[in-house]
This record gives sequence, C-alpha cells and structure tokens, in this order.
Amino acid sequence: MAGPVPELHDRAVACADRLREADSVLLASHIDADGLTSAAVAASALERAGIRFDTVFSKQLDAEEVAAIAATGHETVLFTDFGSGQLDIIAEHETAGDFTPVIADHHQPADADTEFHLNPLLVGIDGASELSGAGASYVLARALESGDTDNRDLAALAVVGAVGDMQDSDGGLTGANEGIVAEGVEAGVLDPAKDLALYGRQTRPLPKLLEYASEVRIPGISNDENGSIRFLSDLGLDLKEGGEWKRWVDLTQEERQTVVSALIKRAVSKGVPPDRVNTLIGTTYTLVDEEEGTELRDVSEFSTLLNATARYDRADVGLGVCLGNRGDALDRARTLLRNHRRNLSEGLQWVKTEGVTVEEHVQWFDAGTRIRETIVGIIAGMAVGANGISRRKPILAFAEKNDEEVKVSARGSHFLTKNGLDLSVVMREASRSVGGDGGGHDVAAGATIPMGKQAEFVAEADRLVGEQLG
Ligand code: C5P
Ligand code: C5P
Ligand code: C5P
Ligand code: ZN
Repeated sequence: MAGPVPELHDRAVACADRLREADSVLLASHIDADGLTSAAVAASALERAGIRFDTVFSKQLDAEEVAAIAATGHETVLFTDFGSGQLDIIAEHETAGDFTPVIADHHQPADADTEFHLNPLLVGIDGASELSGAGASYVLARALESGDTDNRDLAALAVVGAVGDMQDSDGGLTGANEGIVAEGVEAGVLDPAKDLALYGRQTRPLPKLLEYASEVRIPGISNDENGSIRFLSDLGLDLKEGGEWKRWVDLTQEERQTVVSALIKRAVSKGVPPDRVNTLIGTTYTLVDEEEGTELRDVSEFSTLLNATARYDRADVGLGVCLGNRGDALDRARTLLRNHRRNLSEGLQWVKTEGVTVEEHVQWFDAGTRIRETIVGIIAGMAVGANGISRRKPILAFAEKNDEEVKVSARGSHFLTKNGLDLSVVMREASRSVGGDGGGHDVAAGATIPMGKQAEFVAEADRLVGEQLG
C-alpha cells in the first residue's frame, strides 16, 4: 500500500503516526477554497481516527499568527494549506518547545527544517499545478485510515481544493492530482468528463453561461447578452423549458455537442487563436453524490462557493458545507455567494475601466479600497486577457489592508513559468526589500508591504521579473 501519491507515502505515515500520539491537536488552515477543503479533509480523517482537535483559520500565517497559535497551548499543531512558507517562524516555536508542528502544504518552503512535513515540493512534485493543500491533506488522510474507513471518499473535497487553486488551468488535473482523481472514481464519488470548460454549467441559464465566460472571449458572445441569446436561438434547438432558459446540465449529449461545435466555429471565424479556442474544452469534475443543478455538484462552482465564505470571514460556514451541512450552512453560503459574485463583477469592471499601468516586464493596478484585499488576486486573474491587459506579462494588484499595510497579489501563466518566471521568489524578495513579506507559487503569489511603498515595490518586482525571463 503506497497511497495515492507514492513519493509522499513515508512522510504521510510519519505525520499520521505523530497525530495518533498527540495529546491535543489544533488544526490550523488557510481561508480560501483550498484551505477550507484541506481543513475538511483533515477534520474528517482526525474524527474518524478518534483524534480530538480544535480548528482555527487564518488569512495569512505570520509571526503574530503563529505566536497566537502557540498561545493556545495545544501540544501538536496540524497546519494545512500553509505552514511551509513560514517554516522558519514555526521551527523557532518548535525549538522553544511550544508545540510540535505537522504540516500538510504545497507552498514554497522557507529555509528551515522540521520532522513532520508533507509537501510535494520536497519530493520533486510541482506544488502549483500537481498537488494542492487539500491534496496533501488527502494523502495524510489516507495514511490515517482506520478500521472500517479508508477515507477515499474524501477525494471529492481534495479535487475541489485543487480546482479552487486553479490546478486544472491546463485543461484538467495532472500529475499527482490524477492519483487522487482515480481514487475518487474508484470510491464512486467523482465523475471526470470532457466537457465545455466554462464556469456555471450547473447553475447558470445558458445565455448567462456564455455571456459571463471570462475564460475564452468570443466576440459577439462574451459580455454580450443579446449576442449570446441570438447565438443560442439560431442553433435550431429547443433550449427553453416553461419559458425559461435551460442550464448546461439540462442538455442532452447531442445538444451539448451542437452548442460546442457552433461555439468553436464562431470563435475560429472571429479570429480567436487556436490555443485559446482549445481551452473551451477540458476535463470537468462532477461530485456524483451532490444534487444536480446545485453549486455543489460541479467542483469549480463548489470552490467559488467556498471562496465566498472564507474570504469574507465566514470560514465556519464553508467548513460546514464541506462537512455535509446542507441546511443552514448552505443557505448562508448561497447568500455570501451572491455578494461575492457582485464584488467580483464590480471589481472586474473597475479594473477594465481604469486599466493597468504597463512597465517593461510587469503590469499593475492599485485598487486602494475599491476591492477587498482577500479577492484582489481572483480579480487580477480574471482581468488578464481583457482589453489592454496582456497575457504576456505578469499582473500585480494592490489593495489596502489597513491604514498601514497594502496587500499585493501577483498572477502569471504557465507560458511564463516555463520561461523562468517564479512569482513566489519575486513576491518574497521584492516585498522584503521594502520591509514586507510574501511568497506563494511560481504562477500565483502574494505579499504584504508597508503603505506608500507600492512604487518602490513595482520597480523591484519589474527588475526581478526581467532577470527571471531574461
Ligand atoms: O494560497 P493558495 O495556494 O491556496 O492560493 C493559490 C492561488 O493561486 C489561488 O487564488 C489560485 O486561484 C491562484 N492560481 C492561479 N493560477 C494558477 C494556479 C493558481 O491564479 N495557474
Ligand atoms: O472564485 P474562483 O477563484 O474559484 O473562480 C475561479 C474562476 O471561475 C474565475 O477565474 C472565473 O473565471 C470564474 N468565475 C466566474 N464567475 C464567478 C466566479 C468565478 O466566471 N462569479
Ligand atoms: O492572496 P492571493 O490569492 O493573491 O495569494 C496567492 C498565493 O500567495 C497564495 O498561495 C498565498 O498563500 C500566497 N501568499 C503568501 N504570502 C502573502 C500573501 C499571499 O505566501 N503575504
Ligand atoms: Zn492552496
């Protein structure tokens, strides 16, 4: 038995054994979709193994946060979806005898070491695209299997986490994630399929699905309500029921095929480049135990629902949904989702109107207080590809955290990382040069810097990116 990711098996077993021996466990996790699903996977496995624990969430693990965690007095702390990047701080507490850390993460590790550390980057697996925090937690959960449960059902949540971190952005999950998908299929919780790769297949009426699609922009359809309706009406299909537009999930295979072919034809005829047209089709993941037509049935919509909770200080709601609360928690999550969607759409509109400032190697915008700092990274990612916002340069996005601090989010592309871009290094070094700190992944990273240091930060980041892509 080597587990879903054999390279991590020994580490997972060591971490699991340590948790079984713990006197008291604190589970600490990150406030996004991957962090929530990481916590849910770990919480389920701990509970099934009969290990008692408390749970906390944090926006950004820094020295202050780790000190607060130490002050809770728990003998063991299980960090999920963060911890590796703050290993230097955590190791100091370990040395001081404050707690024993167990880490299941996929971020770039800081320069320090600890015994119970489960991270794909330590065994040559890419943490940005091949295994998420929830994936690392799932590997741990499988090693925690006990008695009558092997925890394979938790693969569903692990896949939601991976997609929440956009690890499917090359058309589907790859690498170590595929081992998890396979276990989810075997366990009967997951159904992967080649399908239209647009956001909202379960819940959006067809015209909205096409109009709002920011993944591939098709002239005359994207951002064009009447254009989308005309396109659909001209297909000669019966796409309404009781006067209402159907959703993608309501269509038959043949109908889907007809829509996809027509969309591709339209995109090609409007000059959308072939590599963009190809991204219209990808592997989609359906959670077969969830009700059809709900946000929970499609992993991409599920992950957005989770971001709508945790990024607005309601991680408890998102965790409830992950743990199977389909009543109260789901209602609250849906209300939060409406708010999140409005914020995403208003934020995106603001960026499109204001535009970005283009430097030699990077482009950037400063949203000040116009965009919440916890979602400025999502909006930066969605803005790329819009008019005047190139896919060829990384984008940096600033938003005010408070009177003294500014949050920076950075987003690149796989094209750029293949050419040497590593935004985790850029964010860490550029932020440290102005008195802040940061980290993350090669393709997506973030930092916090002192207020007023934005220009200096941009100059340093521009220089570092130039060096990497040089
Ligand atoms: O903290 P965490 O690792 O969970 O966050 C990763 C972030 O990177 C997510 O917000 C995700 O959307 C972003 N990302 C991205 N493009 C990728 C991979 C990740 O924007 N190709
Ligand atoms: O919120 P999250 O990072 O999970 O969103 C992933 C992707 O889903 C976004 O980049 C965007 O393309 C799409 N999305 C959308 N409309 C929303 C929420 C997300 O098109 N309301
Ligand atoms: O917040 P955002 O979505 O932009 O974060 C992108 C990535 O950068 C995440 O993986 C996050 O954990 C990481 N990050 C970090 N240090 C910060 C801010 C973000 O490591 N100060
Ligand atoms: Zn993550």
